Order: sequence, then structure tokens, then C-alpha cells
Amino acid sequence: MKLIICENYDAVMEQAAQITIDIIKNKPDCILGLPTGSTPIGLYNNLVKEYEAGKLDFSQVKSFNLDEYYPIDPENDQSYRYFMNKHLFNRINIDINNTRVPNGNCEDPNQECAEYEKAIDLAGGIDLQILGIGNNGHIGFNEPDKNLQAYTHMTKLTENTIEANSRFFEKSDDVPRKALTMGMASIMKAEKILMLITGKAKHNALMTLLSDNITTDVPASLLKLHTDVTIICDKASYEE
Ligand code: GLP
Repeated sequence: MKLIICENYDAVMEQAAQITIDIIKNKPDCILGLPTGSTPIGLYNNLVKEYEAGKLDFSQVKSFNLDEYYPIDPENDQSYRYFMNKHLFNRINIDINNTRVPNGNCEDPNQECAEYEKAIDLAGGIDLQILGIGNNGHIGFNEPDKNLQAYTHMTKLTENTIEANSRFFEKSDDVPRKALTMGMASIMKAEKILMLITGKAKHNALMTLLSDNITTDVPASLLKLHTDVTIICDKASYEE
């Protein structure tokens, strides 16, 4: 795994944007795997800036988001679909039909997950998978557990994640208890992985990532089995 340590959050987001921009320029019809959370907002802002400057074209880009709460209406302002439209898709020239987020409103989650996984493969696979990380080392909504699942599936959120994500809701009771998420193999199928880590709260997760240990207790540690992972972190997450 390649590690880039930056001075602060903004510098991480600049590096991440540069890598993403290069990939889109080299392959205008590339497929991006995208995360939500507070971390990637700076990256999305930088991509929008580049687009507004007339230097980046998303017209042929396709995207698959990592996860979505379940159940949740895509119109709900806490849904990941809403988040993506607001922070990225509505601000660039991507064809909204080329953007996929698991449907948190589907009637049959198993069918939705199976179709989602198939759609990734049919599209030709993800060229660049961008990831954030939970304080407990989760990626997407693959939470620490004895067993992790390979492909897109429905999962329960841990108390730790419900607590961490409750900052976006009025109260923690409002956080959906389940989610649809790409699995570990769905993520590892990507050609290239870019992991963004910022802030003190992610220190332990980052240290496990940098250690020699692979454990389902820190799902992100499985990324060590992938041959093209770049971690970009800030000093706050790296230093004790
Ligand atoms: C959520 C998402 C993850 C994300 C994590 C960290 O649980 N499912 O994909 O990486 O939050 O979010 P933040 O960047 O806000 O710390």
C-alpha cells in the first residue's frame, strides 16, 4: 500500500482530486466507485471547481456508490442518494442515469443487491474506488465482524456507527439500523483503490491499516490483499 501523508484536510483533498482528475482525463468513460460521509466533501468540491473551470468532463463517466441506508427514501435529505446529488452529481455534467446508489426504498433488498453487483460487472468493473473509513475500520458499511460478506448485501449497523453517524440526524434513534452495501469483494474487484483518512478519530483505524495485521475486526485491513491501494491521510490521523 502506498501512503501519502499530508499537512491537513485540504491537502489530502487536493491530492485525491488530482488522482481522480488524472483518471477521468485518461479514460473519459471511466467508472468511479464513490463514498459518502464528511471526508470526501472536499474532494467533491475540488472536482466541481475543475469542472466549472471547463477542465473536466463527466459526460461519459459512470459511478457506483458504496452504500445506502435501508430503509430510506432517496428523496430523504439523510439518504446517500440525496448527499451525492447535492455534493456532486447536480453540480457537474454527469448523466444522472449513469450514477447508481443502492436503492434504499426497494421492496426486495436481496434482489436489489444482486442486481447492483451484476450492474458493476456489466459496466466493466470499477476503475477507481474511492473510500473513506469508519472510526472502527469499516468501509462502506462492512462492519467489524467474525464473518464479512463478499458481495453487495444488506447489513446491520453497529452501535459505534449508529453513534458516529447520528451527528447527521436529529437524534440517534433516527439513524436507520440497516444498510445496503457493496461487500469486501465488490470493493476489492476495483482496479485501483484510494483511501482517504483525516482527523484524530481515525488514528487507530489508520494504524491497523499500516500494521502487518489483517483482521475482520478492522474490515479495511483486508485492503492489504489488493495490489493497488493508495492511502492519503493527514497528520492529525497519522500522528498520535
Ligand atoms: C459512513 C459510510 C462510510 C464512510 C464513513 C466515515 O458510515 N458508510 O462509507 O467512510 O461513514 O464517514 P466520515 O467521513 O464522515 O467520517
